[in-house]
Parts: sequence; structure tokens; C-alpha cells
Amino acid sequence: MKILGTGSALPKKVVSNDDLALVMDTSDEWISTRTGIRKRHIAVEETTTSLAVEAAKKALDEAKVSIDELDLIIAATVSSDYIYPTLACEVQAAIGAKNATAFDISAGCSGFLFALSTADAYFRTGRFHNALIMGAETLSKMMDWSDRSTCVLFGDGAGAAVVSAEGNQLLGMVQGSDGASGMALKCDNRPVNNLYHQMGTQTYSYTEMDGRAVYKFAVRTVPNAIGEVLEQAKVPVEDIKYFLLHQANLRIIESVAKRLGQPMEKFPTILEDCGNISAASVPILLDKVRKDGMINQGDKIVMAGFGAGLTWGACVIEW
Ligand code: UT7
Repeated sequence: MKILGTGSALPKKVVSNDDLALVMDTSDEWISTRTGIRKRHIAVEETTTSLAVEAAKKALDEAKVSIDELDLIIAATVSSDYIYPTLACEVQAAIGAKNATAFDISAGCSGFLFALSTADAYFRTGRFHNALIMGAETLSKMMDWSDRSTCVLFGDGAGAAVVSAEGNQLLGMVQGSDGASGMALKCDNRPVNNLYHQMGTQTYSYTEMDGRAVYKFAVRTVPNAIGEVLEQAKVPVEDIKYFLLHQANLRIIESVAKRLGQPMEKFPTILEDCGNISAASVPILLDKVRKDGMINQGDKIVMAGFGAGLTWGACVIEW
């Protein structure tokens, strides 16, 4: 497969750590020293669909693939606007991609990696040729805004890539899941509730995270996954130009860099300005490094995600 174009979209409203400190018991000092996050974009007029459509249109413009040629649309999200129809189907309708099969993937912050892997697997059947893959979230609506330990961490946004079955950019891919540890990061759906059985009252649920457990999972799993995918691709770690990691916490990224013995210059970040945007973090970062002219033909990059499930994924791409 080959990435033909990328795009991203962020809500207009920017909320700084100081802004949050005005409305809850927190501080810029706590948030920035523990996480590296300084601000985040929060949806006011935007929705998950509108952000995904904006990112998708930019990726399609760059890819120069006609809408009719698009035969696959995969959206990775945990915060679609509807339980159904899916976000991918909403984007399909908005861009008029009538020939595409569209569906969502729910794999938390690993979602974009899972979508890329799924597109690659579909391409290998020979039945699909051009895919639009996206990570898009409005996590702000999933936050308990009275829980300072979670709500300061997350932001909203979308990233997209158009990928084609032609080409051999993908040198390696690993994925994994540990459902047994899944309750460390969760958001309840509706409980069973019908005429015959009621398990609870119908209330909205919000993101709950055991931050320390997820932190430990990330610093253990991500370097292992990257080591594994580099071995699979037969690429020495020194040959990787950039490591594009899920943007959850600067300390996690620093720890991964240390474990891999690689300088932090190889780990570009957007979390200072965007916070953690779950499935959208990696594709927004990919779009940014490309648009900043940081990737040239022949460069090898690693992308890695980790999060709810618990799940993880890592790939090596040669540009
Ligand atoms: O994208 C999915 C993947 N998610 C992640 O990778 C997140 C991984 N986890 C983390 O990044 C970190 O665990 C956090 C940033 C979430 C938390 O950092 P921590 O160093 O583990 O802090 P903590 O949760 O242990 O809290 C330390 C203290 C507590 O106070 P006490 O009990 O020590 O008095 C908290 O109440 O910090 C307090 N605290 C806050 N203080 C000011 C928690 N949130 C805040 C806040 N402002 N926003």
C-alpha cells in the first residue's frame, strides 16, 4: 500500500491550561509538568463528522483520487456522533463516495493503526484499491468535566489519509490487545434496560482512567511493539527518521525514546497544542510532519498507537 495524501482538522476554540485553571482546581504547572500538554482544541460548532469530513477532503485533494475510485472508507473513533449510522457512513454521504464500503473501527487510541492495518488486509484480497482512513474524535463530550484527572488531558480533532493498494510503503505492522486489562480506561455504554430486565438507570457515562496503570502499560508495551515491528521489517532502529507516537503524555514519549536509545529530535509532538486526541493523534501528527516538509522520499518512519482496550499497534513505513 501507499499513502497518497493526508489531511487534518482541529476545532477553532483553543483552551489553554490557564483557561482550565479558571474553572477547576488545576494549574498550568501541574498539567504541563506531568504531561507536556499546554492547550487543546475543543469542539463548539464542530462535530466528529464535520472534523472528519474536513480532514478527509484535504487528504483527497492531495491524493488526487476521484471520489468514484474510493472503494473503502474506515473511520477509527470512540466518539462518533451516532451509535449508528457509523462515522464512516456519515463521511461517505458527505463526500458522495457512492462506490465505497464504509465502516468504523473502535480500538481507542490505536484506532488509526488498526484502520491502516485493516485497509492493507482488504487490499491484499484484491477486491479493494483505494481507501480513505481516518481517526476522528470529539472526546470533550466524553469527559466528566468535574474530574480534573481526565478532562485536562484530552482534546478534539481529526486526521485522514488516502491510501492506495499500489506500492510497497508498509514494511511491517504489529498489533495486539489485552482485554483483561481493559477496565483501566473505559466509558460505559447504556446498561441492559428493557421491559424484562433493568441493570441501571439511563444516564450518560464518561471517560474513567486509571492513569498510572495505563502509563505503565504504555511504557512497557510501546517499545516492545516498536522493537518487534523493526525486526519484522528488518530495519535497524537508527535508520528510522521519525517515530510518530500516540500523543498522550510527553513523559511516555521520552521513556520510549530512552528505551529505544534514540534522541528526542526523532519524536515530533503535537500534544503541547492539541492534548490527547485518541485515534486522531497519530494521523494529525503524520499530516503535520508531512506538511512541514520533514519527510522526504525514501525516509523510513514508525507510527505507534496505544490505548483503550487495551490495544496497541506499530508500523514501519518507507516513504
Ligand atoms: O490515550 C490513552 C492513553 N492514556 C495515557 O497514556 C495516560 C497515561 N497516564 C498518564 O499520563 C498519567 O498517569 C496522568 C497524567 C494521567 C496522571 O499523572 P500521575 O503522575 O500518574 O498523577 P496521579 O494520577 O497519580 O495524581 C497525582 C496527584 C493526585 O493528588 P494526591 O492524591 O497525590 O494528593 C491527584 O489528585 O495529582 C492530583 N491531580 C491533579 N492536580 C492538579 C490529578 N489531576 C490533577 C489536575 N490538576 N488536573
